[in-house]
Amino acid sequence: MPPRGTETQRSDPEVSSAMTRPNIRFFLPGPTYVLPEVREAMAKAVVGHRSAGFRSLYESITPRLQAVFRTRGDVLVATGSATLVLESAVISTVESRVLNLVCGAFSERWHQICLSLGKRADRVTVPWGQAVDPELVREALRRQRYEAVTLVHNETSTGVVNPLHAIAGVVREESDALLLVDTVSSLAGVPIETDDWGLDVVLASLQKAMAAPPGLTVFTLSERAAEQAARLENRGFYTDMLRYRDKHRSGGTITTPAVSVFYALDRQLDNIVEEGMEARWRRHAELREQTAQWVEARGMDWASHAGSRSPTISCLRAPVGRQAPEIVEGLSRLGFTVGGGYGKWKPETFRIGHMGEVRAEDLEGLLQALDEVLEASGR
Ligand SMILES: Cc1ncc(COP(=O)(O)O)c(C=O)c1O
Repeated sequence: MPPRGTETQRSDPEVSSAMTRPNIRFFLPGPTYVLPEVREAMAKAVVGHRSAGFRSLYESITPRLQAVFRTRGDVLVATGSATLVLESAVISTVESRVLNLVCGAFSERWHQICLSLGKRADRVTVPWGQAVDPELVREALRRQRYEAVTLVHNETSTGVVNPLHAIAGVVREESDALLLVDTVSSLAGVPIETDDWGLDVVLASLQKAMAAPPGLTVFTLSERAAEQAARLENRGFYTDMLRYRDKHRSGGTITTPAVSVFYALDRQLDNIVEEGMEARWRRHAELREQTAQWVEARGMDWASHAGSRSPTISCLRAPVGRQAPEIVEGLSRLGFTVGGGYGKWKPETFRIGHMGEVRAEDLEGLLQALDEVLEASGR
C-alpha cells in the first residue's frame, strides 16, 4: 500500500487499480475528489464543438448518462452550474403557479428563484434536519392546482434525503403538475429511477456524487415537460430547455460547451458504468452506515433526523462545549477536508461528504482523524 495521503498514478499495468487507488482525504459535500485519470483527461487538445470528433464524443456520452438517470429519454447537457438549470427548469415549464418543497438552503434557493422570476410560488416548509412528508405535499396539492412542484432530493445543507419515490407518487396521484427534481448531491449515489417514478426534470451538476470536475449540468426533460415548455413564451435562450433538446437531437450543444469538462465526464462515466448503479448506490448506503456506527459508538449527535439521513452527506452536531468550525480546522491541520455547517447551522454543525469516489478505507481514515481531533480537546 502506498503511504496514506499520497496519490499514485495508474501507470503500472502490473499493479491492480485497487492497489494504486489514491487515499482520499477530501470530504467536502462538493466539489468532491476527482480521480487523477479523470483530471488528466482534461489535458487533451480542445476541438471544435461542431467537429465530427466532438459530435461522436457527445453521442457516446448519451447512453451512459441514460444509464445513470435510468431513463430511455433524452439527457441534455448545459455548460454552467446546477443553479442555471434550476432557473431554466422554472422558466421553461412554469407560467404562473409553482409549489416549492423547502427543507433547507438549496430548496429555499429554488423558491427564491421562482419568486425572482415573478412566479406565484407557494411553499411547503419543514424544519431544517427533517425530510418533506409526502402527506404535506398531498394536502397542498388538494388545496391548489400547480403547474409544477420543485423538490431537492438530497438537501446538501442538512444531510437529509427526501423520499423522492413516495413524493413522486403523491404528485402523480393528486395532480397533473410536473415534478422538477434537483439531484445535485444524489445522482449516482442514491437510487433515482427517472422513468419508473415519472420524474419530469431531473438535474445535477457533476461535482458531487458523479465525482467529475464542475462546469457542466446534466438533466432530463420528459415529454410532458417538453409539451408544457412548447406552450410557454419567453423561455430565454440559455435557459430554454427545448432549445437544448432540439440541439441534442441533432447531435450537439446549444452554445460553445466546456469541452475539457466533457473529456473528464467521458472518462468518469466509464468508471461509474463499470462499477454499476446498484453497486454504487450500495457503496454509498454502506458509507452512511459506517458513519452511523462511528457516531453511535461515540454518543455524537446528528443534525439530520433518523430515517432521513443521506447516503452521501452526514451532517453532525459538534459535541457540547465545542464549536464546529474548530473541528473542521483541527481536521484540516491533520490534512483532511470536511465541510463546515451551512448558513445558519455554521457554528453548530459540520458535514462529511462521503460520496463520489470515497471508499470505506478512506472514510475510516477520516473517522480516525476525527477521533484524534475530538480527543485532543477532551471531546
Ligand atoms: C442540492 C444542491 N442544489 C443546488 C446546488 C447548486 O449547485 P451549483 O453550485 O452547481 O449551481 C447545490 C450546491 O452545492 C446543491 O448542493
